[in-house]
Amino acid sequence: MTTAADGPSWSDIATWYDGLLRAGSGPHETATACLLGLISQPTGAEVLDLACGQGLATRALAGAGARRVVGVDASAAMIELARTHDSPPGLSYVQDDAQRLARFDDAGFDGVTCQLGLMDIPDLDATLASVHRVLRPGGWFAIVIGHPCFLAPGALTAMVAGRPAVTVTGYFDERFWRSTNPNGVRRAGNHHRTVSTYLNALVRSGFRLEAVDEPIAGPLLARQQPLYREVPIFFGARVRRPEG
Ligand SMILES: C[S@@+](CC[C@H](N)C(=O)[O-])C[C@H]1O[C@@H](n2cnc3c(N)ncnc32)[C@H](O)[C@@H]1O
Repeated sequence: MTTAADGPSWSDIATWYDGLLRAGSGPHETATACLLGLISQPTGAEVLDLACGQGLATRALAGAGARRVVGVDASAAMIELARTHDSPPGLSYVQDDAQRLARFDDAGFDGVTCQLGLMDIPDLDATLASVHRVLRPGGWFAIVIGHPCFLAPGALTAMVAGRPAVTVTGYFDERFWRSTNPNGVRRAGNHHRTVSTYLNALVRSGFRLEAVDEPIAGPLLARQQPLYREVPIFFGARVRRPEG
């Protein structure tokens, strides 16, 4: 069984990850477009960006008009790298564990985002409870995750009738896994969970589902990985903490 101990951590690959994004990453371009598309009104909002990494989505949220954006990540190395980027006013970074958000008060944010982070965090229920707690009643939570159907551990790519395709085995086998690709993001490991597990956990945590998205590849990703013109690379959703 693969465990978090037998491979690189996010801090170990933080410098590499920052270089990947600085060079222009098709998956990340598509993820951020999906995230911003799910948030109808970031203008003037106070937003917590969970598992912010080097701050790609954090900066995009500030650029889209959020009044205050706080990026939070468990990795000190990621937070350090995030602070090296030019940042618009109103943006700051805090090192903390998304499963507790111990450094944040209750009901302090209008919105919370998590771009490509939920599948990297071991305790999904604890994380969703923390998000619910730090959101104001009526606040929204927008997520983008690797699409569990197509980025599953047993996914294999192939050409079928001249088009890129993916076959999947073991979809129901929820577990921690690592990609064996030495240049892949998922060599840092992630938790495979089914789509139903994510949606049921959100509902169980008290959120109301408002919108979902399965984005087609943006221009850069379509060039880098044409497979994602055929199947979605990501699954996105916006949920809301009900008023009262
Ligand atoms: C794939 S990166 C995504 C970073 C960023 N959101 C982006 O889109 O580039 C996943 C991030 O999750 C962070 N992470 C993993 N477990 C965490 C936890 N328990 N609390 C906060 N951040 C965590 C990692 O340190 C890493 O920066």
